[in-house]
Amino acid sequence: MTKRFEGKRGLITGVANRRSIAWAIAKRLSEEGAQLAFTYQGERIEKNVRDLADSVSSPLVTACDVRVDEDVERVVREAGEAFDGQLDILVHSVAFAAAEDLEGRFTDTPRDRFWLALDVSAYSLVALARASEPLMDAAGGGSILTMTYLGGERAVPHYNVMGVAKSALDSSVQYLAWELGQKNIRVNAISAGPVRTLAARSIAGFPTMEAIVEERSPLHRPIEADDVGGGAAYLLSEDARNVTGTTLYVDGGYHAMGM
Ligand SMILES: NC(=O)c1ccc[n+]([C@@H]2O[C@H](COP(=O)([O-])OP(=O)(O)OC[C@H]3O[C@@H](n4cnc5c(N)ncnc54)[C@H](O)[C@@H]3O)[C@@H](O)[C@H]2O)c1
Repeated sequence: MTKRFEGKRGLITGVANRRSIAWAIAKRLSEEGAQLAFTYQGERIEKNVRDLADSVSSPLVTACDVRVDEDVERVVREAGEAFDGQLDILVHSVAFAAAEDLEGRFTDTPRDRFWLALDVSAYSLVALARASEPLMDAAGGGSILTMTYLGGERAVPHYNVMGVAKSALDSSVQYLAWELGQKNIRVNAISAGPVRTLAARSIAGFPTMEAIVEERSPLHRPIEADDVGGGAAYLLSEDARNVTGTTLYVDGGYHAMGM
């Protein structure tokens, strides 16, 4: 395998367990030579994340709740300390909406839980990008990747407020790409088809989404987290040095279909 990330340093958010999309991305970057720092949310998953991070010789594993500004600033500072003041890669793979909002009607989403979903799933990209900007600038540029879904562009039953959050995330990718491009920092998204992860299990009707995508997409096969890892490695690498503000669909081609 080519080592596109030899000498590159990355911060990975959103690993919960070995099924997490963020872990599939981290594995791939590590195989290609990257050094990686990890964040985790909450003590419940700390051991999982530490064990996974140890398996790729990570120099830093630290707690981060993306709703807390001090956490975001601290983890990026700690990553800077671990990586001699520089950062090349940021993977944002974090999202949350209350379970009841992924089961009931979108129309009934209360104000506080609407903002909770947007805070965790969209604003966190802006906060992490802003905190990472000086370290990426010091590295001569960088690459930021987030995870989105078609439900931000079209109505997908049950995706509800998370779709609105993905819409805000997609737009944030474009504004960040425009501003950070001046510093040679690229910002892109992957729109993944349904992948069986912890977060996916909280979406009511997820098995139906999986079945429909597999039946109607041009490639008629399930989407694996490792498929997303491959797309991520491309977008984060120098191979994509002229690609920013874009979304790569890793969904078996489902987004191209009209029905
Ligand atoms: N699984 C899919 O089918 C699919 C499809 C398209 C997009 N995505 C997106 O991929 C990303 C990763 O999800 P996943 O499917 O790997 O599931 P996952 O459950 O493994 O990852 C979600 C992560 O978000 C973290 N998180 C939630 N609230 C947080 C907070 N306040 N602070 C810090 N971290 C927090 C969780 O700890 C977890 O690590 C999400 O943005 C999700 O919307 C997933």
